[in-house]
This record gives sequence, C-alpha cells and structure tokens, in this order.
Amino acid sequence: MRKRIVAGNWKMNKTPSEAVAFAKDLIEGGVLAGGETDVVFCVPAVDIAVVADAVKETGISVGAQNVHFKPSGAYTGELSADMLLEAGATYAIIGHSERRQYFNETNETVNLRLVAALESGLIPIVCVGERIEQRKQGITIELVRSQVKIAFKGISGDDAAKTIIAYEPIWAIGTGLTATPEQAQDACCSIRNVINELYGADVAETIRIQYGGSVTADNAAELFNMPDIDGGLVGGASLNSSFIKICS
Ligand code: PGA
Repeated sequence: MRKRIVAGNWKMNKTPSEAVAFAKDLIEGGVLAGGETDVVFCVPAVDIAVVADAVKETGISVGAQNVHFKPSGAYTGELSADMLLEAGATYAIIGHSERRQYFNETNETVNLRLVAALESGLIPIVCVGERIEQRKQGITIELVRSQVKIAFKGISGDDAAKTIIAYEPIWAIGTGLTATPEQAQDACCSIRNVINELYGADVAETIRIQYGGSVTADNAAELFNMPDIDGGLVGGASLNSSFIKICS
C-alpha cells in the first residue's frame, strides 16, 4: 500500500518568525496525529532553515517551492538543489502552475529541474494540470499525459518511483471550484497509466499521486479515498488550522 502524503504549499506567505510560530501551532494542534500520512510543509525559501529546525524530530518534512536545474553559477535569484538540501528541505515542488503562468516555466524546464532534484536527492513534487478551456475542449487527459511524459524524459524507473506527482487542475487552484472526486480520480488514474507505460507496473504501483486544487477539510477525505489519489497538495487550507484535519 502507498503511504499517503499531504503537502502544504504556503506559496509567498509567512516571514521566518511567522512561519516558525505557525509550524509550532500545527505541531501542537496534532498535525501528525494519525501517524499514517507523510506531512510536508513547502515554505518560502527564506523560511526553510528555521522551519526545518522547528519540525526537527517530529517526522514532518520541509519542502522548497522550486529548484534550479544547475548546481551553481550565474543565475541571479535562483537556488540549487544542494542549497535547499543543506538549508533543510527534503522535497521541492516543481512546475507549479503559478510558476508556469507567471515565470515562464515550460515542460522542458520542469524536466531539467526534475533531473537536477533527483540527482541531488531532493524528492520532487511535479505538478501537472489543465486550464479550464482545455477541460472544456476534452483534452485534459492528453494534456496531462504529455506533461508527464516530457517531465520524466531521461528519468530512470528507480528515480521515478521516488517522485511525487501532483495533479492540479488550474481552474481549481485557489478558486473554491474543487474537482469532483471522479474528475480527480480519472486524471490521476491516467497519470498512473502513463507511468505504467513508461516504467512498468511496479513503478506505477509505487509512485504517489496527489490531487491539488481547493482541497479543504470538508472534501479531503472523499478525494484522498479515491483509488489513485494518494494525498494532496494544499494551498489556501494549508495556511490555517484546517490543515490539521486534512492531514488526519
Ligand atoms: P489551493 O492551492 O489549495 O489554494 O487551491 C493549491 C496549490 O496551488 O497547490
């Protein structure tokens, strides 16, 4: 059985002191109460070190929200996988739709970042998902399949099995328009099928696939109980105490 994984994407929220206080509130509130779910806080880069310290020995992991594909060099403003690891991150979100939309991320740069993260030992959370026009056109599955195929170009089966994929329909992110459990399951199942085509059944059965897009304490259980959904990537609801309920 795949262990469920819930990651909070804090986006551009919380200064270091606010982040530490909030992480402590979540721990005291029992965010790990079930013990059956991996919990990750994907925090702004400047919060990684202090939040990693605050969650030390709890079993909670810290993630970055992006990672550059070069190990070092003249890339002003970027952060390498080794920098993030040493700061205390063990996960990194890659290809979030906000990065694709506002910062020109493409399937190709997602692939480069995925390769770099895996080479350094960061666990990637690779985001894919369609826009509303694409869903209306009936090309969701085709689109998500090609996003996955390009992202995983050159990645070995062993590395693919360690990776997390987050299916995040763009129309559901931050809008309150959650995908229905059936819509989310269909897309996550099609992602597992592509992984099966690329790497075979063992990797397909091992890889964990999250749903993201307006996950709340009220809809999480139904979504996460679908057969191909192994947890969630949570934005807005990761910034308040409802995240505790989502994890439990
Ligand atoms: P949301 O964001 O939960 O606020 O819709 C999800 C995400 O962007 O990962």
